[in-house]
Amino acid sequence: MKIMAGNSNLPLARAIAGYLELPLTDASVRRFADEEVFVEIHENVRGEDVFLVQPTSFPANDNLMELLICIDALRRASAKRITAVVPYFGYARQDRKPGPRTPISAKLVANLITEAGADRVLSVDLHAGQIQGFFDIPTDNLYAAPVMAADIQARNGGQELTVVSPDVGGVVRARALAKRLDNAPLAIVDKRRDRPGQSEVMNIIGDVQGRTCVMIDDIVDSGGTLCNAAEALLREGASSVTAYITHGVLSGGAVARVNDSALKELVITDSILATDAAKESNSIRILTIAPLIGEAIRRIADESSVSSLFD
Ligand code: R5P
Repeated sequence: MKIMAGNSNLPLARAIAGYLELPLTDASVRRFADEEVFVEIHENVRGEDVFLVQPTSFPANDNLMELLICIDALRRASAKRITAVVPYFGYARQDRKPGPRTPISAKLVANLITEAGADRVLSVDLHAGQIQGFFDIPTDNLYAAPVMAADIQARNGGQELTVVSPDVGGVVRARALAKRLDNAPLAIVDKRRDRPGQSEVMNIIGDVQGRTCVMIDDIVDSGGTLCNAAEALLREGASSVTAYITHGVLSGGAVARVNDSALKELVITDSILATDAAKESNSIRILTIAPLIGEAIRRIADESSVSSLFD
């Protein structure tokens, strides 16, 4: 087995390799003067089971091209099996046509990864579970929920917890977390979004009066969804609101928005390399999912069960 990394999240790749007690494969991913990506693998990978770690986060298009070119290099170097480990799968939100004459870019990206030569995909908290079906190769979708649940339990012992989904689409994810928290009650924020990038909270479904609210979502991008939902929950009488979000996209002024928000804390994972602003924020904490991904990789390599990780 070999672990190779693109440039998009080297600390995560190193931590995964550390968990597996393996060195990272010696390779360089460089740019030509015109920003073309060039990959060179400096060790033999012929016949190897290679796991290539490369989330397609900001800059999404550059990181996606790096992923595709690394896969191509591995395929041409005769790797036996190539698993694209894409902890954050960019373009996932474009998983359906929101209107006429619009693309389904998540499907296009799935096709590109497959055509480049990946044999398997490993991702974490895909925006929609059905994106697994966009790939005609085996695709494992891991959940950060066990890592989050352990942290929530360690920090909120004895509190009256309510798990909150910040929109109707996230209820399944929220219910799964609530189950891990001794079947904590659920609340749902009924959000209406007028335009992409803007969010507006309309209603809270469920009782949050006096409750310690734990909001869960897959992505925090502008932070609008979270910050508006936190305000609405506090207006409805919640005693505090903490958010657990797998993928800290945190574009533009999102970190400042979170810093100035009513949120007690935003907890993200290291699926995406945090910016300096996110690392320096007193309101943002980062949990590592390297052991979760490392263990899944070990099980894929050993051909043992991955789903039992979540039992
Ligand atoms: C939407 O369906 C996603 O699950 C997130 O709620 C959304 O992407 C968050 O975006 P933002 O932080 O820009 O409100």
